[in-house]
Amino acid sequence: MTIIITGGAGFIGSNFVYYELQNHPEDRLICLDKLTYAGNLETLEEAQKHENFKFVRADIADRKAVYALFEAEHPDIVVNFAAESHVDRSIENPEIFLQTNIIGTSVLLDACRKYGITRYHQVSTDEVYGDLPLDRPDLFFTEETPLHTSSPYSASKASADLLVMAYHRTYQLPTTISRCSNNYGPYHFPEKLIPLMIINALADKKLPVYGTGENVRDWLYVEDHCAAIDLIIRKGRVGEVYNIGGHNERKNIDVVKTILQALKKPESLIEHVADRKGHDRRYAIDPTKIHDELGWLPATKFEDGIQKTIQWYLDNRDWWQHIISGDYQDYYEKMYGHREKL
Ligand code: NAD
Ligand code: TYD
Repeated sequence: MTIIITGGAGFIGSNFVYYELQNHPEDRLICLDKLTYAGNLETLEEAQKHENFKFVRADIADRKAVYALFEAEHPDIVVNFAAESHVDRSIENPEIFLQTNIIGTSVLLDACRKYGITRYHQVSTDEVYGDLPLDRPDLFFTEETPLHTSSPYSASKASADLLVMAYHRTYQLPTTISRCSNNYGPYHFPEKLIPLMIINALADKKLPVYGTGENVRDWLYVEDHCAAIDLIIRKGRVGEVYNIGGHNERKNIDVVKTILQALKKPESLIEHVADRKGHDRRYAIDPTKIHDELGWLPATKFEDGIQKTIQWYLDNRDWWQHIISGDYQDYYEKMYGHREKL
């Protein structure tokens, strides 16, 4: 079987490449990635040694390039991870999010229609459901929860989901969608909460917590997400949406304190800064459907996953030091340099 993995040089996509190489070495994997600031070929160095792995640099919104790839490789399955993925960047500049996340998805769907596939899988996010109030811990997102987005990022991801559903209904394209909660683990780009806090703490820099830090995220170890997607593309029902998450809800401030404790750094490094615009309060997934239908359950508890992740950043300093020595400095200055301290 041939699988195109778009966005495979990013955080979750690369973890998925390694998951597939390990669990299905017989399959051919083609990673299609534009290598934006978030894509990193160093991450795929080991994968490039496998004869069943191939890397192709292209933009998913480039119709010519995508069609040429489908014509040459005849993929059976397409798993679309490629996206602009950072909420804060979408608040600064929404346009590229619409281009990649919506137009890019539509080009992939058209290619699937034109050349024929057995499955198109869209990697979506729980952020399409909007947020939940902090004082209603009894509420969770199910697959039936209406789409109700907050940021340009989540609006672009919800738009892509709607397109995928429309291509299934109108053209009977064999699609599935997964909506996952916040991931963490190896190869996570240090603009996101957990790696940013680990790296700042290691450098004894301030840890910028937005607002009070009471916002809640439902954390999933990235390998558990990969296992869920693998199950969906092989055994999931066509036309369905599956929520992925694992009842690992934590307040941001508690996540940050856990990281400081593990690294034996003082809490005085925490700095409360101006809140994110439109900041979602709480995300929480009800994973009953994927558990009942496909037997999926997360294997990694947050307490273990966060320690493994911190250890990975300690053991792989070269990987993140290369990243933060480049354009990242400008990004950091722009986002945090003049941010109001609370
Ligand atoms: P990431 O930003 O780390 O990686 C994105 C990858 O896509 C990069 O390799 C980048 O080069 C590539 N890319 C971007 N634009 C492209 C384009 N136009 N054409 C081809 N490649 C392009 O993102 P991530 O955190 O790994 O997220 C992967 C997917 O999972 C996204 O679709 C995201 O919406 C979704 N998701 C992420 C999370 C999370 O917690 N990170 C949770 C749920 C869902
Ligand atoms: P993030 O990792 O950007 O993921 P998402 O916005 O998709 O949930 O942020 C996770 C939470 O951490 C979110 O509530 C915003 C907060 N946050 C901070 O408090 N400080 C930061 O520097 C960052 C990047 C995020």
